[in-house]
Amino acid sequence: MSSDRGRFLTVEGTEGAGKSSNIEFIRRTLEARGLELVLTREPGGTPLAEEIRDLLLQPRDEKVCDDAELLLVFAARAQHLTQLIRPALDRGAWVLCDRFTDATFAYQGGGRGIDLARIEALETLVQGDLRPDCTFLLDLPVELGLSRARQRSAPDRFEREKQAFFERVRDCYLDRARAEPGRFAVIDASVGLEAVQRQIGAQLERMLEAAHG
Ligand SMILES: Nc1ncnc2c1ncn2[C@@H]1O[C@H](COP(=O)(O)OP(=O)(O)OP(=O)(O)O)[C@@H](O)[C@H]1O
Ligand SMILES: [Mg+2]
Repeated sequence: MSSDRGRFLTVEGTEGAGKSSNIEFIRRTLEARGLELVLTREPGGTPLAEEIRDLLLQPRDEKVCDDAELLLVFAARAQHLTQLIRPALDRGAWVLCDRFTDATFAYQGGGRGIDLARIEALETLVQGDLRPDCTFLLDLPVELGLSRARQRSAPDRFEREKQAFFERVRDCYLDRARAEPGRFAVIDASVGLEAVQRQIGAQLERMLEAAHG
């Protein structure tokens, strides 16, 4: 990888794992090193992609078919990549994204049961060969994350799913982490926030050393 291109970092995990809480910590750590950091999220990250996010998350009476959900996710991603992520990486900024395509594999693949090969085909179509450089997977028992999320806000269309759905999501994330140990850092997110951040901080140190020698 050329040294003047930015790094693409993603944070993944089931509901209430602590993605938003720890993204703030990662931002502080990287900005303290003088890096330009672009903070964003999926689905979303541009005005159009955020509108698609609202469409995806709103609870609704009409059943959303699996392919419609999958294509909306990738439509938002195409817009996000073109408008925000690629230009930032090209100018040397680091991009930190709250969820990315691993979430599509986990939720639409593991959760909904869409054939993973179909998702891989869309991944290649929309992203070409762009993949995250490092993915923090915040892993914790499903019920613990859901209870944290419930204390915070009313459930969205995904949070209304049953526990078994999220168990499949978690398993799919862990399968992906096992398959790509060089890209994933699996973080035990069941412990207190400080202990989570110590794990993330150690990983960031390793990454910064690798990036700057
Ligand atoms: N390690 C932790 N221990 C205890 N509580 C935590 C921990 N991490 C986060 N929380 C709390 O759990 C709730 C959910 O955290 P947060 O919003 O960061 O999760 P999230 O992964 O972004 O959730 P979502 O998937 O819904 O976006 C918040 O109220 C947060 O303060
Ligand atoms: Mg969040």
